[in-house]
Amino acid sequence: MSAQFLRVSDLTVDGLQRVLDLAAAVKVHPKSVAGARLGTQVGLFFEKPSTRTRVSSEVAVSHLGAHAVVLKADEVGLGKREAVEDVARVLDRYLDVLALRVFDHSNLVTIAEHSKAPVINLLSDIAHPCQALADLQTVAENRPLPGTVLCYIGDGNNVCNSLMVAGAMTGMHVRVVTPEGYAPSADEIDRASRLAADSGGSIFVTESLAEGTDGADVIYTDVWASMGQETEAAERRDAFAGYQVDEKVLASASDEAIFLHCLPAHRGEEVTHEVMEHQRSKVFDQAENRMHAFKALLLHLTEA
Ligand code: CP
Ligand code: NVA
Repeated sequence: MSAQFLRVSDLTVDGLQRVLDLAAAVKVHPKSVAGARLGTQVGLFFEKPSTRTRVSSEVAVSHLGAHAVVLKADEVGLGKREAVEDVARVLDRYLDVLALRVFDHSNLVTIAEHSKAPVINLLSDIAHPCQALADLQTVAENRPLPGTVLCYIGDGNNVCNSLMVAGAMTGMHVRVVTPEGYAPSADEIDRASRLAADSGGSIFVTESLAEGTDGADVIYTDVWASMGQETEAAERRDAFAGYQVDEKVLASASDEAIFLHCLPAHRGEEVTHEVMEHQRSKVFDQAENRMHAFKALLLHLTEA
């Protein structure tokens, strides 16, 4: 097994800080790393749709002088045309890094177990760690991470899980506000809470919007139905009614609170148009940071 980034906690606290520092540095000085990984072959595999991840990772690879091989799920047939472990053992003969977006996180674990090349999670059913790197980078552009109160409102999903861990590792206070039945799993809360105990941060899960948003420095939301949950969309719209981020919710946070969303956003559902366009909405900085953060992660994982 080689280096992997299936969850944010695959990095040490120091490693995470290094990636964040590097991401900030390459954003300011992109030329400093231009061509830094000439000849490195990076596989980018997608079982689900993607705009940000697909384009930001391919462009990051190109800036570094590396080469991206983009693989579509229907061509590879992971676990269908070929056993998952065989795909891993074949691809690592050609590629120096395997980065994959999958439905089933356990397939990523199998690939990482059988690949000599580093494996990166580009989103699974339970984690979106590359997103969390860009999220932290964006928060850090606005205020120091330690002590920051981040309130995530919505589904206790992949994005929420990675944000809890990333926040916990950097001394943030992460509050998660979900309707009944949609909280993150107890395992994910425990994992993040243990990390928070070491950093001086905290994890707090509630069904009360007021408890979550009061004085928060960051308000964050994500779609109510993730990719693969489309058939639950109507049921979820009912369950999440009352958890929309609107200007009133933003106003109940601190005066300087910023708004984040991993995107794509469904305006009129989890967030209003006015909040998306608010002067304290940083969602497009956050989307841009996906590219800088991925570049930094690749540099970190492929260090000689
Ligand atoms: N935030 C994010 O991962 O976007 P895509 O699904 O478009 O890649
Ligand atoms: N939770 C969403 C994130 C999309 C970037 C999903 O998995 O579809």
